[in-house]
Amino acid sequence: MRLALFGPPGAGKGTQAKLLVERQGLTHISTGDIIRHAIRAETPLGQEVKKFVDAGQLVPDEVVWKLAKQAIANEGHDDFILDGYPRTVPQAEWMEAYLDEQDASLHAFVSLVVPDEQLVDRLSKRRVHVETGETYHLDFKPPPADIDDAMIKQRSDDKPEKVRERLAVYKEETQPVETFYRERGLLVEIDGVGDFEQVYERIVEAVQDQA
Ligand code: AP5
Ligand code: MG
Repeated sequence: MRLALFGPPGAGKGTQAKLLVERQGLTHISTGDIIRHAIRAETPLGQEVKKFVDAGQLVPDEVVWKLAKQAIANEGHDDFILDGYPRTVPQAEWMEAYLDEQDASLHAFVSLVVPDEQLVDRLSKRRVHVETGETYHLDFKPPPADIDDAMIKQRSDDKPEKVRERLAVYKEETQPVETFYRERGLLVEIDGVGDFEQVYERIVEAVQDQA
């Protein structure tokens, strides 16, 4: 099955993608993870995009499309879950044209709906393991006691002023992508409030007839 998980920063895209990968055998394609990896490794790409991520801005469409296309091509177009892509209308148009050519259109575009106050709480209390990338939340999924504290960090774009900027960018540049997929009949809206398992069950139930 080919899915895209959509939603504002902190909606739970990464959290739900991980569950779908573990339980449904899909491959996870996260442009945010690819970008952060390039920044950590200080590759030329990482150096080029760092300033956008640090400012809470989107990386230019051409750059991200190249990364996403490469990742999708590597997966062989059959079973994947996109997390954080597409995030602008041009990104969606380019990807759809490419997937149509490959006879591999998305089965569903899943939008996680979560109110702003809750997004801010989730992001301010998110912590990430620097090596494994495992994501925690100080209240809902605290890091296990046996993990060295020094390995658990806050993402640089989770500082309050960056979160505000990311939410503003989401509303301005990203939300219109929902209309694009509504018009294609692929939009599935999911209530993203509730515990991790409840949200997961809602997604699985909603997409099972789409494949
Ligand atoms: P990216 O890494 O994709 O960040 P994002 O979209 O802002 O989303 P997040 O990863 O912050 O949130 P999430 O929805 O994955 O939430 P999570 O599951 O972690 O992108 C980062 C940057 O890269 C962008 O700003 C941009 O610069 C660049 N970029 C990436 N893709 C791009 C593109 N296509 N075009 C241009 N630029 C691009 O959950 C959040 C927290 O909440 C966690 O602590 C989690 O434990 C907790 N949580 C999750 N679910 C629940 C629940 N149900 N109840 C309570 N807590 C929960
Ligand atoms: Mg994420």
